[in-house]
Amino acid sequence: MKYLIINGSPRKKNTWMMVQQVQKNLDGSFEEIHLFEEEIPLCKGCYNCIMKGEQFCPHKNLIMPIVEKIKEADGLIIASPVYAMNVTALLKNFLDHTAYLYHRPEFFTKKAIVVVSTAGAGQKKVANYIDETLRHWGVNKVYKISLACGGKDSLEREKIDKIAKKFRKDMDSEKLHSPKFMDIIFYNVWRAMALTDEPIPADKEFWFKTELVKYDFAPEVKLGIIKKIFAKLMFNILKRVM
Ligand SMILES: Cc1cc2nc3c(=O)[nH]c(=O)nc-3n(C[C@H](O)[C@H](O)[C@H](O)COP(=O)(O)O)c2cc1C
Repeated sequence: MKYLIINGSPRKKNTWMMVQQVQKNLDGSFEEIHLFEEEIPLCKGCYNCIMKGEQFCPHKNLIMPIVEKIKEADGLIIASPVYAMNVTALLKNFLDHTAYLYHRPEFFTKKAIVVVSTAGAGQKKVANYIDETLRHWGVNKVYKISLACGGKDSLEREKIDKIAKKFRKDMDSEKLHSPKFMDIIFYNVWRAMALTDEPIPADKEFWFKTELVKYDFAPEVKLGIIKKIFAKLMFNILKRVM
């Protein structure tokens, strides 16, 4: 298994200790991206990635190599400490640069584990935010480890091991999980948007080129009969509303 670690902390301390504890439970190769080394300028809000395509991002030389590494990885480890009750600006800036993935999700076969450390508050909220973002990217399953104090004592290491082992078992199984109802809704929002009279050009190109526009959900991920009916219903409603 190939794992990509994206470290959103500006240092290698508490959050990194937790990541290292996760790594002890996994088998495979690891590539590390420390966002503090990447020096990605702030997103300029030019809308190029969303409207024209990610290849038009003024910071594409820094962003696209990271996205390529995400594509090559089987599993993702995304880490951030809590800063002012949110992710760090480093991680948020990277997520802003990849906002086009909300419109054009593509990581349907990937699984991820989110690692969040805090001094005392906000860890669940922040882990949930990263989870939500990854699911918008299409990521199939997200595990979450969020701790106050950064996994320094043995009890916390046990907690990390427990969740990391579940992640590993799931990675090894190579089984893809059925999406949540909310994931089906968002997928079909963007799918329906590509079919409006005035679609976003880059979105239209993506949904047609990948042929995802034909599917209730990404074809690699199987839907049961109820979710299939739900997806069709949502798509028809959304197409009409838009
Ligand atoms: C700028 C800044 C903002 C922070 N904001 C919060 C916060 O809102 N709530 C909290 O409980 N801890 C907060 N902390 C503490 C860190 O989340 C905590 O120490 C974390 O484990 C640091 O991880 P690191 O060692 O990977 O940098 C903050 C720390 C810094 C430096």
